[in-house]
Formats: sequence, structure tokens, C-alpha cells
Amino acid sequence: MILPVIMAGGSGSRLWPLSRQLFPKQFLPLTGESTMLQETCARLVGLDHQPPLLICGDDHRFTVAEQLRENKQGHSGIVLEPAGRNTAPAVALAALRATSGSEGDPLLLVLAADHVIRDVAAFQSAVNTAVPYAEQGKLVTFGIVPTGPETGYGYIRRNAACADSGASAFAVQEFVEKPDRATAEQYVGSGDFYWNSGMFLFRASRYLEELKAHRPDILAACEQAMSAAAIDIDFVRPARESFLACPDDSIDYAVMEKTQDAVVVPMDCGWSDVGSWSALWEVSEKDEQGNTARGDVILQDSKGCYVQSDSKLIATVGLEDIVVVESDDAILVAAKDRVQDIKEVVNRLKAED
Ligand code: GDD
Ligand code: MG
Repeated sequence: MILPVIMAGGSGSRLWPLSRQLFPKQFLPLTGESTMLQETCARLVGLDHQPPLLICGDDHRFTVAEQLRENKQGHSGIVLEPAGRNTAPAVALAALRATSGSEGDPLLLVLAADHVIRDVAAFQSAVNTAVPYAEQGKLVTFGIVPTGPETGYGYIRRNAACADSGASAFAVQEFVEKPDRATAEQYVGSGDFYWNSGMFLFRASRYLEELKAHRPDILAACEQAMSAAAIDIDFVRPARESFLACPDDSIDYAVMEKTQDAVVVPMDCGWSDVGSWSALWEVSEKDEQGNTARGDVILQDSKGCYVQSDSKLIATVGLEDIVVVESDDAILVAAKDRVQDIKEVVNRLKAED
């Protein structure tokens, strides 16, 4: 049986001014009626799975609980991190929680709470393809065919196809998290690489074994935090001091780059991690001039723009490839090909705090 583990603790800083520390992008309805977290839960319907286990920051507990309640799908608990230590510890807490219950040692389907997936059937079919490999003890990643040399992703070099897989699963030869631009260009040019989608399927115990081999310090801190966890109804609270002492690292660096036992299942499902305004523009509906307009917006002679108003009317004249986003206390105006640098603005704001 699959236990989905939804990681919802990121900060989404490149989607400022909409995505804020207290309300990051996974809790916003960025592409439809429901929030990204709710869509992540909804796309599980139809898979053979237990209700999802959520893992997020303590600050977000009520937001997560409320959004899950609205979805009416139930859950298997919400693990609350006293502070973010990135995804390697987050998944460790989930794996320790999963193996402590009566379910034994479930297959964890690790999901990010902030991805867009257009083709849910293709997503579910890739997950089902991955199940037998995860049952054999493999750590399965889901690979996206790259469309450009993005440096914000992990890259997976595939090896030979798994026996009898009909080229639906490959051994992983190499996993490289966030390479520099020149390396990414070479990878994309070679045709041997996938992007890491940031979703994984493995047995809880296999993840813990790999962590023990490669980052025993992270495992020890998480074990200590979970052995003294407080559980009140839906919320699981790892012991604060032990978890704060845990090193910060992502699952990609801590485990996926190092394991010898990974398999990649290609996934062609209209995926986007909507990491930036330009990525959101790409997956959004556009008018004939390639503009996306949300809210009260008038576009005059404008092309390729993303314009979003919260309360005021926004009018643009003669703009090309510009992002304008209005929120109640800030307005962003940015060149669409420079939106990665918004995190610098957020850093400056944090420094001024
Ligand atoms: N609970 C919890 N705690 N969740 C976290 C934490 C944390 O400390 N940090 C991040 N998350 C959540 C985010 O909300 C997101 O849903 C997911 O974990 C991935 O974290 P990101 O911070 O968005 O990672 P990334 O985008 O830099 O890189 C990952 O995703 C890429 C694809 O989108 C990597 O897996 C890359 O290899 C991958 O290509
Ligand atoms: Mg991300």
C-alpha cells in the first residue's frame, strides 16, 4: 500500500509578493480554484493509497489542517517541524512516523505540495509503473524530459532499461543536483538526462537505511526527535531541541546523489514546479497576444505579459514580456526573463526586517 507523504514546508520566495513566509505558494490557488496543496491531494484519487501524511512547519499547521478539511479527503496525520531543516530530515521524520505504526513498512510516495500536473492519468500511471521497483527496494525517482538547461533542478543520467520494463524504467547512472549552467547545457545536449521531478517512491525502511549509510547525523537527530515526539490528535510534534540540532540538507544531496540503488521512471504529465512567475505564465491560459491576465486588468498593445491584480485595476500599454503583480502591500514589476532574481529582493527585505 502506498502512503503519500506531502512536503509542504517550502517558502516559495521567487513568487513574491504573493508568496509570503506565512503564506507560501503551496497554500495559494495559483492555477485554479483550489490551492496547490489541495490539488496535490486531489490527484491521488484513483491510486491505491492510504490517506496522505503531511509534513510542514509548525507556523502553517492551521492553514494545512483547514485546507485538508475543505478537501474532505482525510489524512494520516500532520508532522510539524519546529523549524525547516530542508527535505532530507522532513522525509526522515515521515519515514520514522510511517514505520512506527501498525502499517509496518509502507511505500512512501514523496510529493512536493507545489507542483502543477496537467495529466493526472499519466502521473498515476508512472506511479503504478514504479511500484514493483520500490517493492524490490529501489529508490524510484520520476524523470521529466528537460526543455532547457535550467539550473534549479536535479539531473538524472539514465543507464540501461530495467529488465522487462519495456523502457518504462531505467537504472540511474548518476544524479546531479542543481548543476551549473555549462554542465546543465551539456546534460541537456546529450539526451541522456532527465530532470528530477522532486517526487519519489521507496520503502520507508530503505530511505532510512540509505540515510544511515550517507548521513547518519541526520538520521540520529530525527530518531531522537521522533522518539520524544508529542502527539495531539492530528498533529505530531517532534522534540524541538533534537530537531533544531539536525543538519540542514535536501533529500537530493543527502541521499539521491549518493545511493547506488536508484531507478528513474520517466513521467510525461505536463509537469511544472511553478518556481517563478515565468513558469506560472507558461502553464497559465493566455490571450492571442500571449498575455495572462488575472483580476481587474486592461492590456493595451501588450505581448507576452503576466499581469495579476488583487484589488486595484492594472492597465498596461505597449509592454512586452513584463510581469506585474499587485498585492495589498507591494507591487512587483519585473522583466519576465529576470524573475529568478526576485529572491534577491526577498533577501533584501529579510535583511531590513
Ligand atoms: N516539510 C518541509 N520541510 N517541506 C519542505 C522543506 C522543509 O524544510 N523544504 C522544502 N520543502 C518542500 C517544498 O514546499 C516543496 O514542496 C518541496 O519540499 C521541494 O522543495 P524545494 O525547496 O522547492 O526544492 P527545489 O525546487 O529547490 O528542488 C527540488 O525540486 C526540483 C523540482 O521541482 C529537488 O528535488 C530538485 O532535484 C528537483 O529538480
Ligand atoms: Mg521547488
